[in-house]
Parts: sequence; structure tokens; C-alpha cells
Amino acid sequence: MRYHLTTFGCQMNEHDSERMKGLLESLGWSEAPRRDDADLILFNTCTIRGSADERFLGNLGDAKRVKRERPETVVAVGGCWAQSQKELVFREFPFVDIAFGPGEVARLGELVARERIEAVGAFSFDGAFSGGLPAKRERPHQAWVQISVGCNCVCAYCIVPSVRGRERSRPPAEVVGEVEALAADGVREVTLLGQNVNSYGRDLPREGRATFAELLRAVAAVDGIARVRYTSPHPKDMRADVVAAMAECPEVCEHVHLPAQSGSTRVLRAMRRTYGRERYLGLVDRLRAAIPDLSITTDLIVGFPGETEEDFAQTLSLVEECGYDGAYTFLYSPRPGTEAAALDDDVPAEVKRERIQRLVEVVQRTAAARARRFVGTRREVLVEGPSRTDPARLRGRLRQNITVNFTGDAPPGALVEVEIEGSTSTTLSGRQAGVPAKPEVAVPA
Ligand code: 5AD
Ligand code: SF4
Repeated sequence: MRYHLTTFGCQMNEHDSERMKGLLESLGWSEAPRRDDADLILFNTCTIRGSADERFLGNLGDAKRVKRERPETVVAVGGCWAQSQKELVFREFPFVDIAFGPGEVARLGELVARERIEAVGAFSFDGAFSGGLPAKRERPHQAWVQISVGCNCVCAYCIVPSVRGRERSRPPAEVVGEVEALAADGVREVTLLGQNVNSYGRDLPREGRATFAELLRAVAAVDGIARVRYTSPHPKDMRADVVAAMAECPEVCEHVHLPAQSGSTRVLRAMRRTYGRERYLGLVDRLRAAIPDLSITTDLIVGFPGETEEDFAQTLSLVEECGYDGAYTFLYSPRPGTEAAALDDDVPAEVKRERIQRLVEVVQRTAAARARRFVGTRREVLVEGPSRTDPARLRGRLRQNITVNFTGDAPPGALVEVEIEGSTSTTLSGRQAGVPAKPEVAVPA
């Protein structure tokens, strides 16, 4: 029996998909290269913006075609979109056999077995952590480690709390145990995952509880783990103990993804982010002071209801002031059931588009200027595999999370020193130290 899985959305979904694959393969399934060859067509969906829904629905149409041609094919839809449509999915899409939310990944095997009897839906938030399931890792030397699921924030624009539920933390011993097992399996780099990693542990019973800073230190101390990353923190919960753990643990990488969303205090208040521009900038200053050579990336939303040209100018200047190494920029998209969906989506589409263009220009200029600081220096790179653009070269990442394409001769998983020779706003290029520019010509004796 063969499955085909398509994943949409964030790293949490990538992680859940690795678990879905691991689970299915432990039950004897194997991966099919194309939907047309699959007995089970599976989707792990996202619904963060309207565009995520549209992208998925296009793919679901393709599954419908396969089902028409081969009615015995099972179509299963998991993840956030499925959760958001739990009332409608079987009615609107009658060819769907199984639908399940992000909290029910662990029950996929059971759902597939039951489907033979009836269409099945599963949407609770209190199932087993997907982090406890077997994983089929795409990258042998890097792993995602789920530390919490769900989110207790009330950001006015965001659908995540309603599709992933309240925050639940995994016990620290379980997280550290998983990291130890990964290290024993050859993993060098782990990325701790949670919707808001900084509020980790607050829901755990007092005995055996850890803060995020304590967890970071415990994971960094695991033998064999060379690099620790995490995503994403909420600026409101980023305390001094986390900054200190980052500064003091050599394994914790010099990169933080710190979603700002807007540079305008007025808009931030309307978004219910609970910090203002000045507090965010203060946090950036403290991070930069404590962690030399830190790279900072962010998420920014353009055109939130009520955003004026003045507010938007504050977002542009935030990018300049923070000196981001990169930023994801999004057009505001009203999501059903969120607080902001009740507000008038009053920034006209063409104004949103024009603003995001200006924002992307400033982000690219800032990121390009930041990337130039690496040129002429030698940096530690974790080798990931062949370069995507030139298979004769290698690809890896700096501790600062920037991709570098380079000439070298190291296997994936190796940590090598690379002389950085060139940069763009998103990638670096270089040469592994000690590896000559051209292959040396052997001189016959
Ligand atoms: N519209 C636009 N962007 C959004 N994000 C979350 N919800 C919305 C929305 N309704 C963005 C935020 C978040 C990132 C994952 O997606 O910037 O940090
Ligand atoms: Fe998409 Fe958010 Fe769900 Fe991730 S948590 S898949 S970004 S809706």
C-alpha cells in the first residue's frame, strides 16, 4: 500500500508530516512518487491566510480527479485547514474520506483503518503529541523537536489558536530524551518548535517543570548536538533568562526569528500583540548587546485594518532600525472567527500591494547590507548536501541561519570552515578552507 503526502504551511506542519510518514511506514506503507500511483492521498494543510486555503484547494481538486478515475483511492485531509472546516468538510467535499485536525496526527493509523467502514473525522486538541511518534526525517543531520503545541495568545488577525487549541507543553525529560536519541542517530542540529516557545512549561505541573531557558540549556548540553535553534518566540515573553541562555550556550545559534508584525505601536495595540514599538526595539538592543553577531529575522503584516500611511512608515523605519537579516512579509488576510475579521478590512488591495512592494525593497536592501558583513570572513558551516543551483558545489548554513553555496569536499552533516567570498540579500557563496579553487592537476612522476 502506498501513500502520497503533500504538506502546506509552517515548520510545525513539516514536523507533523515527518511523523505522519514515520507512522504510516511503521504500519507497512511506502511512499508513492505521484498522487496517481497512491492508494492514500494525504494532505497536511494550512489556513493561516486566504492564499493558503486557495493553494490547498487547487491540490484538493487534483485529488478529486484521481478519486474519479480510481474510486478506491482514499483521500485524507489533516492539519489546520481541516480543523477550520470540520463542520463542512464532508458535506462540501464528499470525496474526502478522512479529515483530522493537527491534534490528531497520532491517530492517523487508526483513522486509515476505520475509513474502510465509514468516513471519519477527528478534531480534538488533547491527543498524544506528534513529537512522540516515529519520524521519517528528510534531513539526516537536522531535526525538528516539538516542545509545545497550541497557542494561548489572542493576536487579533490569527487563526492558529482556534485551529491548534490551547498551549500544551511536552515534559522536559521527554524533550531531552528525544534530543539524546536524535544525537545518537547522528543528528547535529535541532530546532525546537512551538507556536510560542517562550511560554513553554507554564502549563506543566510544578514538579518536573522547566522554563524555556532551562530547556534550551538542557538541550544544548546533550552530547553530539552542535547547534540548537528554536522558533518562534513571542517578543512579549522573551525574558532575560532566555537571552542569557542564548549568550552562554555555545551550541545555541546566533539567530532569532522575532516576529514584529508592525512597527506602529497603534497597530500593534489593535493587533493585541501586548508590546509596542519601543519595547520591541529595547528587546532587540538587549539581544544584540548580549549576543555578538546575532542575526535577526521577522514577520511583518501589511494592511491590517486601520493601518495608515503613517503607521506603515513606522514599519519601514522599524526594518531600518532593527537591521533585519531577513523578513517574511504578508498582506493582511481576514480569517474567519478572528477578532480582526469583525473589523472593516479598509486598506484597499492596491494600497496593500503598493505598500508591500516598498517594504520588500527595504527588507532586501537591509538584508543585503547585513549579509555583506560575512564577506571576507571565515565561518562555520553545517553541510546540508549539494547546492540546489550547481550540484558540483555544496550547500550549508551558517550559525546565523544564512544559506551558503560553496566549493568544498565534505559530506552532509560535517561542520566545516568556509571562506565567504560573495553575498546577495538571501545567500552567501564561498570556498571551504583548504580546498583549492580548481581541482589540482596530478603531475606524473
Ligand atoms: N494575515 C496576514 N498574515 C498573517 N499571519 C498570521 N495571520 C495572518 C493574517 N490573517 C502572519 C504573521 C505570522 C505569520 C506566520 O503569518 O506574520 O507571524
Ligand atoms: Fe498554517 Fe498556522 Fe497551521 Fe502552521 S499553525 S500550518 S502556519 S495555520
